[in-house]
Amino acid sequence: MAQTGPVCVSVINMKGGVGKTTIAALLSRYAALRLDLDVLAIDLDPQANLSQAFMRDRNYRQFINNQSPSIVEIFNGYRPPTSSSTSPSPLDVASVTIGNTPLGGRNLQVIPSRFDFSDNLVNSLKPDPRILARFISDNFQNKDLIIIDCAPTESIFTRAAYHASRYILVPVKPEYFATIGFPLLNESLNTFRNHNRGHQIDVIGVVINNSSYHYSGNRGGPERHRAMLEIRQDAGESGWRIFENQIPLSRGFPKMMRGDFSHQGNAYKFSRFASEFFQELGFE
Ligand SMILES: Nc1ncnc2c1ncn2[C@@H]1O[C@H](COP(=O)(O)OP(=O)(O)OP(=O)(O)O)[C@@H](O)[C@H]1O
Ligand SMILES: [Mg+2]
Repeated sequence: MAQTGPVCVSVINMKGGVGKTTIAALLSRYAALRLDLDVLAIDLDPQANLSQAFMRDRNYRQFINNQSPSIVEIFNGYRPPTSSSTSPSPLDVASVTIGNTPLGGRNLQVIPSRFDFSDNLVNSLKPDPRILARFISDNFQNKDLIIIDCAPTESIFTRAAYHASRYILVPVKPEYFATIGFPLLNESLNTFRNHNRGHQIDVIGVVINNSSYHYSGNRGGPERHRAMLEIRQDAGESGWRIFENQIPLSRGFPKMMRGDFSHQGNAYKFSRFASEFFQELGFE
């Protein structure tokens, strides 16, 4: 794919716990380590799970204790006075990106999130949802790939993710009510497109994440089957493709998010989806 600047993808589903953060982290890692791409991962969720996965517990606590800048300061547009600075100061890119993390290696940088993220912004006057897109355009044109992990609820941050993105990746768990968020996302994307006619944004696809089986046995039984039919139908109605390679259920995933890659079990099959995903983007 001939392109200028990075490809920016947001991982979104208005439903919680479907694997957004796991997938955002592992795709970023795959791109950096296996494809040797220059990657930026952005944590747009106040839960900060992506930040914790990349930095591990101790470093994350250190980052909070050091009052290091995060996505919050990007939205605010400055660094506030801290224990080591005596006035508001400009936000420089180096200070807000964390590199060489245990999970990502040297080709990957992370813009971390903080737990007070939403409070901080709710209290400020209507943050501009274009700030993140502007920050990316000013500072990260040298990257190959930008992956944004989003919170499960629609908010100003979802719009910030839209403004920054060319593509949306939608993880879904084959369970009862799996597609409850699809019409919501489709509507929200269409509204965004209507207000931003010059902005091309597409759902690159839906990925099935078999992150749990609630029903009869390992293959999921009739409930899973029904959920899959529903996913096919509802994705089709929105005009979204479904990736051929599904992500298997594996205890390897939570382990990998803790930085343990020793016994991955079935989780090694993630690379099949990753390969399909990056082929679609033209990187592989
Ligand atoms: N394929 C899988 N197999 C087993 N466990 C998984 C799988 N995918 C995700 N998980 C686990 O499911 C839980 C939820 O995953 P994750 O945090 O990635 O979801 P999320 O969509 O980001 O959630 P939220 O909406 O809260 O941000 C985590 O404990 C994760 O380790
Ligand atoms: Mg998450």
